[in-house]
Amino acid sequence: MEKEIHVFAPATVANVVCGFDVLGFAVNAPGDEVIMRVTDKPGITISKITGDDGRLPMDPAKNTVSVSVQHYLQSVGRIDIGLDIELHKKMPIGSGLGSSSASTVAGLFAIKTLLGDESDAAKLLPFAMKGEEMACGHGHADNVAPALLGGFVLIRSYEPLDVVRLPHPAGLWCAIVFPDVDVPTREARQIIRKNIQMKDAVTQWGNIAGLVSGLFMNDIDLIGRSMKDVLVEPVRSMLIPDFYKMREMAMELGAVSFGISGSGPSVFAFTKDEETANRITQKLQQHLTGLKIGSNGYVSTINDAGPRVL
Ligand code: HSE
Repeated sequence: MEKEIHVFAPATVANVVCGFDVLGFAVNAPGDEVIMRVTDKPGITISKITGDDGRLPMDPAKNTVSVSVQHYLQSVGRIDIGLDIELHKKMPIGSGLGSSSASTVAGLFAIKTLLGDESDAAKLLPFAMKGEEMACGHGHADNVAPALLGGFVLIRSYEPLDVVRLPHPAGLWCAIVFPDVDVPTREARQIIRKNIQMKDAVTQWGNIAGLVSGLFMNDIDLIGRSMKDVLVEPVRSMLIPDFYKMREMAMELGAVSFGISGSGPSVFAFTKDEETANRITQKLQQHLTGLKIGSNGYVSTINDAGPRVL
């Protein structure tokens, strides 16, 4: 058995505008890293966390990575093992980029690989969802599933859990901008309407079906015109500085679609090429600077690999 492993797991864009809690995809960067070492003393310790400005708990009973790993160890009957975890955050916390999911998935992938567990990575999904529940009070899978499986993922059902990996056009680029304002997922979920109108539901499921069809048909224009959200975005957009102005700018610069990444505040646009994606991140970041809001920008294709050993 290997004694040490270093794993990367990717950031993810959940919801993909119209698919609240049921759609997500992984990107190449950013992502989080976990270094896991086997120790002599049974139990899990966390010796180091970097990149979190001291915001994440070092207590293994309170950290989503160690708690998820502990659930996995129980399920495979290996609570005898001793582990030390180093977590290196390479993306902002509370960004809407699946920050906690990337860390949790990196930890689970690390222990699965250390133990030589050859079973399908999807087996780790329920443990990753436990981490998500701990992080924001709800165990949704639209960040953890693409972080774990890579690519574009549909959560067809939660009970029972039924996750479907979707194809996507090879030439799809993603521009992401994180405006540096705090939007905790827990709170961004509390403000969502609990009841919806039938007419809005019809619009929404037409768009989800259109988006999934576009992914299968390699039809980027169909993908773009299907990415409309009449249920969640009208409420959550209020938490994001100049959201509608940023949409207008992105669309004028040639975006195929634009929306909130996960629960925000990050926003993302699909484009047909890298140059347009670069231009969009650059202009949106300039706009935010003008509002005296710091930001990070990322440009990526869709990451089909998911977590990887470094
Ligand atoms: N589907 C989730 C939400 C993703 O929108 O609240 C955020 O983690």
